[in-house]
Amino acid sequence: MPREIITIQAGQCGNSIGSQFWQQLCLEHGISQDGNLEDYTIEGGDRKDVFFYQSDDTRYIPRAILLDLEPRVIHGIQNGPYKNIYNPENFFVGSQGSGAANNWAAGYAAGDTVQEEVFDMIDREADGSDSLEGFMILHSIAGGTGSGLGSYILERMNDRFPKKLIQTYSVFPDTQGGDVVVNPYNSLLAMRRLTQNADSVVVLDNGALSRIAADRLHVQEPSFQQTNQLVSTVMSASTTTLRYPGYMHNDLVGIVASLIPTPRCHFLMTSYTPFTSDNVEQAKTVRKTTVLDVMRRLLQPKNRMVSTTPSKTSCYISILNIIQGEADPTEVHKSLLRIRERQLATFIHWGPASIQVALTKKSPYLQNTHRVSGLMLANHTSVATLFKRIVVQYDKMRKRNAYLEGYKKEAPFHDGLGEFDEARAVVTDLIGEYEEAETESYLDPDKGKDKAEAN
Ligand code: GTP
Ligand code: MG
Repeated sequence: MPREIITIQAGQCGNSIGSQFWQQLCLEHGISQDGNLEDYTIEGGDRKDVFFYQSDDTRYIPRAILLDLEPRVIHGIQNGPYKNIYNPENFFVGSQGSGAANNWAAGYAAGDTVQEEVFDMIDREADGSDSLEGFMILHSIAGGTGSGLGSYILERMNDRFPKKLIQTYSVFPDTQGGDVVVNPYNSLLAMRRLTQNADSVVVLDNGALSRIAADRLHVQEPSFQQTNQLVSTVMSASTTTLRYPGYMHNDLVGIVASLIPTPRCHFLMTSYTPFTSDNVEQAKTVRKTTVLDVMRRLLQPKNRMVSTTPSKTSCYISILNIIQGEADPTEVHKSLLRIRERQLATFIHWGPASIQVALTKKSPYLQNTHRVSGLMLANHTSVATLFKRIVVQYDKMRKRNAYLEGYKKEAPFHDGLGEFDEARAVVTDLIGEYEEAETESYLDPDKGKDKAEAN
């Protein structure tokens, strides 16, 4: 029985990373640009129906809904090489067509107007699946549409599909500057929904993505196309166990349950190695890539696709390594022992200190450039340092009442700026939760009681 997943992509960033993700899945499953299977495909034991359904004429159609409040990016997809694979009924462009102008409140307010049409699309897709497992939402949190409309949809999804999992791939802004001026406002407001309404959030940030693209692809100012290539590699790797199922981690709930022991700490970071252009360096080395090399590199902070500032107390809550290629369980076991001996990863004190490993198949249609490659999905307490930076930047702007007029005009702020204060409180609490997770007594029931009494 397939456990289907519906993807909702919102705004410029969401749709751009989404279109690269679908392109990647088509290549991996041997699906051509018109949705038919390529002549060279074989019965590969893959499960295409998790992410695609088959139309009456047996073409594969992505279970994807593409939303934006401005037409440019969606029109690009409708005129691009993969234009024919999407269901034409699954495109939604807001009728005003001017976007949410980098304003979370405008995107959120638009939710009220567009929700009926959008949820009709979502319901239709949900009805078209046999055993829907959940949703993936792709967006950036720094602008207006992906962030604001994305927040609106997340909230409503909880009411409409209470039993379905929601995982987001959320692109955070480059907090070192060079991004949308009001990104701290938009990010903080969206963070509240990611905290309260998502089951799992894969955090990527444009600062880290640009740095990795510069290091790995050797380009100084990487284009979105290039950073999105990194994102779609991560997305395809993190869904391989669903698409090429083995005996574990073969549904989303299996992955989420193994990474998220307590519901609020559900923000995950990723590392991937090696990227294809690492070839240049690889070619120079005589050694072959081993599982140990891959696992060791996955643990290096420089390979993380999130900019965090780990402290002495920060630690892993959990790790799942998804390893592809020529790896056998003995090699994995030895590598894990070595990593433990060398103490390469510090874990929480209140749970099992172990790296989980899933060995998965690779697409038979893509040439293997590396003997072994790996993705790490990790729950690490230092993710809270990214949230802290957002709060600090938010406080600076808010103290000066900077750029508030655009927000005050929109419905969520008609009765004052309470939305901001509530979002700040939720995010501050979340940061506190991660800090507590670093202590030994995190699960200590008395500790929770003290806190409740103090409130
Ligand atoms: P509005 O245009 O304001 O209505 O909302 P939107 O959701 O379309 O905004 P957008 O997705 O452009 O959000 C802006 C943020 O996303 C900024 O931080 C950009 O740097 C980032 N961004 C935009 N497009 C891409 C992309 O293709 N890839 C990546 N990695 N980031 C993007
Ligand atoms: Mg836009």
